[in-house]
Amino acid sequence: MTKPRILVTRRWPEAVEARMAEVFDLDLNGTDTPLGEADLRDAMGKYDAILPTVTDRLPAAVFDRPSARTRILANYGVGFAHIDTEAAKSRGITVTNTPDVLSECTADIAMTLMLMVARRAGDGERELREGRWSGWRPTHLIGTKVSGATLGIIGFGRIGQAMAQRAHFGFGMKIIVQNRSPVPADVLARYGAVQVPAIDDLLPLCDFVSLHCPGGATNRHLINSRRLDLMRPGAFLINTARGEVVDEHALAQALWFGTIGGAGLDVFEREPHVPAELLGADNLVMLPHLGSATRETREAMGFRVLDNLMDFFDGKTPRDRVA
Ligand code: DGY
Repeated sequence: MTKPRILVTRRWPEAVEARMAEVFDLDLNGTDTPLGEADLRDAMGKYDAILPTVTDRLPAAVFDRPSARTRILANYGVGFAHIDTEAAKSRGITVTNTPDVLSECTADIAMTLMLMVARRAGDGERELREGRWSGWRPTHLIGTKVSGATLGIIGFGRIGQAMAQRAHFGFGMKIIVQNRSPVPADVLARYGAVQVPAIDDLLPLCDFVSLHCPGGATNRHLINSRRLDLMRPGAFLINTARGEVVDEHALAQALWFGTIGGAGLDVFEREPHVPAELLGADNLVMLPHLGSATRETREAMGFRVLDNLMDFFDGKTPRDRVA
């Protein structure tokens, strides 16, 4: 039997690439640079499966061709707002993602940002490396206590719950959640959490707010200037979800004018571009989209894609089918 022809759009962990090469007729992107829309549209005619990731844009135009060979887009990553799933569905193309395996590491990065911004770790590190540290003093780089504070979690799926686990059991934080659908009582009870109906209800109650909802058009600028004004003065916003969820200009204003205490961002609206007004804000900690960036998780994500592909080409429904 001929092996399915597969395109991997970026370099993946070696262990996964090696295993995939045994099973499929594999084309790797040796340059590891993002493909453009025209390349992806072209690939639709040549490959049985395309394995995109968050740096690939697949709007309706990519699917707009007389015929396609591609039958599955097996995304490397949990978020898939970069793929027009309606356009894929209308052409009978299956879409899968990689949930579960990155929840813990993404929550770890959200905790990292929360601790760094509250305890001014970025300021401190810069000061020390630049030789500006003059020694201990009672008023030096005073931050905000995390332990025992109230954390608001917007989006209480797997990653939101992993965040609650860390914050509640590790740091004794009170947890308030907002989620599109009602969270089962036993899940809330596990973290001593309370669910509120709307984001506007949550924001004024919290010392920290962490975003764990999906990106895409529906949630674009969910956090805007009106909502930043609803946050407590001195509160912190953490985003490890998707850049477009936060209006970056409004956030920059809130940081510069001190409407909120600070923010921690792992994701940006037009990655890898970071607006200058954010780069200059000292009460902001930024990371270059590192949520899932551990060897263990990046390999697990790759093997999860492999499972989805094996199921698909065996004629079964892949476990992580999203369209
Ligand atoms: C995802 O999985 O969607 C991440 O943002 C990339 O790891």
